[in-house]
Amino acid sequence: MKLLVIGSGGREHALAWRLLQSPRVAHVFVAPGNGGTATMARSTNVALSDPAALADFVKKEGITLTVVGPEAPLALGVVDTFRAQGLKIFGPTQAAAQLESSKDFAKVFMVRHQIPTAAYQTFTDPIAAHAYIEAQGVPIVVKADGLAAGKGVVVALTSGEAHDAVDAMLGDGSLGAAGARVVIEECLLGEEASFIILCDGKNILPLATSQDHKRLQDADQGPNTGGMGAYSPAPVVSAAIHARVMREVITPTIEGMKADGIPFTGFLYAGLMIGDGDDATRPIKVLEFNCRLGDPETQPILMRLRSDFLEIFEHGVAGTLNQAEVEWDPRTALGVVMASANYPATPRLGDAISGIPAAQPDCVVFHAGTVAKNGELQTSGGRVLCVTALADNVRATQQRAYDVVKSINFDGAQYRTDIGWRALEKK
Ligand code: AMP
Ligand code: GLY
Repeated sequence: MKLLVIGSGGREHALAWRLLQSPRVAHVFVAPGNGGTATMARSTNVALSDPAALADFVKKEGITLTVVGPEAPLALGVVDTFRAQGLKIFGPTQAAAQLESSKDFAKVFMVRHQIPTAAYQTFTDPIAAHAYIEAQGVPIVVKADGLAAGKGVVVALTSGEAHDAVDAMLGDGSLGAAGARVVIEECLLGEEASFIILCDGKNILPLATSQDHKRLQDADQGPNTGGMGAYSPAPVVSAAIHARVMREVITPTIEGMKADGIPFTGFLYAGLMIGDGDDATRPIKVLEFNCRLGDPETQPILMRLRSDFLEIFEHGVAGTLNQAEVEWDPRTALGVVMASANYPATPRLGDAISGIPAAQPDCVVFHAGTVAKNGELQTSGGRVLCVTALADNVRATQQRAYDVVKSINFDGAQYRTDIGWRALEKK
């Protein structure tokens, strides 16, 4: 059968790559895709993004199932458009995707359903927002309500930074409509983890745990990014923490959405802050919901997936996820993102890339911001590649991934040298 993957990042390259390993998948189309999905066997890029045009393409090509990677098409209602035409697609409806597309919606939802999250208030009036910051003190977190492609969150350590963020978003309209409302919330301390599940509206299937590295530089320094690397499993999510997250966060979220009349289908990603203490009592709070897989978390997670990915999606669409069987490689997978010069502020495009080795069972270089142009591969975005390896332990996996990173060249390449440091520290 033929499948469609919507998106253009490393996550979508990994989705297409893993789906192509299913014996029943003949071909995968990726819209719009990247240099990696353009050059992979049995994969074709399609230059479409409009939901109606994508639905027409699916009908014309006889595509059986569509999988959505990023949040933007979900917020545009691509799932609603496809379903209205009887086309199979895995993802949340536009209404359910508000868990990600509006931080205020997510906060109001969490409070209503007693899901633990940082204390907050929402503002459209800058004067009231400034007064709240003064009353609360720092550190404090200022978030644009809407989708801002990773640029909407300011963790302010000084009151100057917090006031500046409010002025930029509410005053200057620096993020447009996305920043016309802001959520200001308590700054949480602890260790972050990405907890991702699939849901068919009622049944929940957790994926392997993972941890992202949001800051640009080693030792979690520098600006926030979309994610500079990830690994799976995340040791902070012990069996006890896993059970608590399911009970305290995931189940009430899925039940709450159902009770509110907007059942959740698709991938749900809870970004968690896990505070200090022992596993029975340490605080677990939701930093954010995403209505999709994480990028780069997906790359190491899918390196570890042993089951037929297509079957999992089929259960997801049919409402039978309770029958899905998922087997994980017990080894550690770890992905190192190589980003372009000047990422994240103003990524430089058009640098020639060389030295990418062919995919191996224990190391795959997933493409993100790449394009095949004039017979060469060039950078075309902020995050360029994610070098993802699989080995027996964190140290060996790091070694394997970084050996390959060092063999790849493009001008201005930036990468962290410490992906996985928290897992190593726990040993
Ligand atoms: P978000 O898009 O909400 O996940 O925010 C991006 C990043 O900002 C998170 O991964 C955290 O590192 C940080 N962050 C968000 N909210 C908070 C918070 N309440 N306290 C501390 N850090 C936060
Ligand atoms: N890696 C974080 C995200 O996908 O939102």
